[in-house]
Amino acid sequence: MSIKSTNIHWHEGNLTRDERWKALGVKGCTLWFTGLSASGKSTIASALEQVLVNEGTHSYRLDGDNIRFGLNSNLGFSAEDRAENIRRIGEVCKLFCDNGSVTIASFISPYTADRDNVRKIHEDAGLAFFEVFADTPIEVCEERDPKGLYKKARAGEIKGFTGIDDPYEAPEKAELHLKPAEHELDECVKQCLEFLEAKGFLT
Ligand code: PPS
Repeated sequence: MSIKSTNIHWHEGNLTRDERWKALGVKGCTLWFTGLSASGKSTIASALEQVLVNEGTHSYRLDGDNIRFGLNSNLGFSAEDRAENIRRIGEVCKLFCDNGSVTIASFISPYTADRDNVRKIHEDAGLAFFEVFADTPIEVCEERDPKGLYKKARAGEIKGFTGIDDPYEAPEKAELHLKPAEHELDECVKQCLEFLEAKGFLT
């Protein structure tokens, strides 16, 4: 992403990241959930956030629908808007992560290039980024259809709905591969917790 502004200069603060994390007893990373609508990503992300916070790990969750009410209220669902949606959220995750939160993002994020861009934003900043694939077959998502969106998409009332008439590029290098249609919610959360513990992000 090129920078439009000219005559701007990076300003270092007085604290390094390590000093901040050490003083506050925190350690940030981003756990990026991707998956179809109704794949279970937000349910798992919410339950995970609850366990982490209740057990004393600084954590904050960002979720697709919610962010579109505020920060990204000017974006729709074209490929360009989805890319900008994910780019902005990636930058926000980087900030939360730098601040020491186990940052949980839950977005369809259907394009590999957009997810890879968020990975790069983190890696360039020396921050850990983990992709979590909520791999639920579309038949199951459509059967669940909690918001009635698949029904509307099939009826042609929503155009460009992911998985129906818009693409979903499944991740090929996700660090964590969840199968929410085969495992209970608790089991999926447990897999996330075990993963975070193995990576040293539980405080
Ligand atoms: S994206 O693709 O990552 O930019 O999408 P995201 O910001 O995660 O928003 C997904 C939620 O928007 C609702 N919605 C749609 N999803 C997909 N395609 C279309 N056309 C669409 N229109 C509205 C839907 O409620 C998604 O929420 P989840 O939680 O995934 O079901």
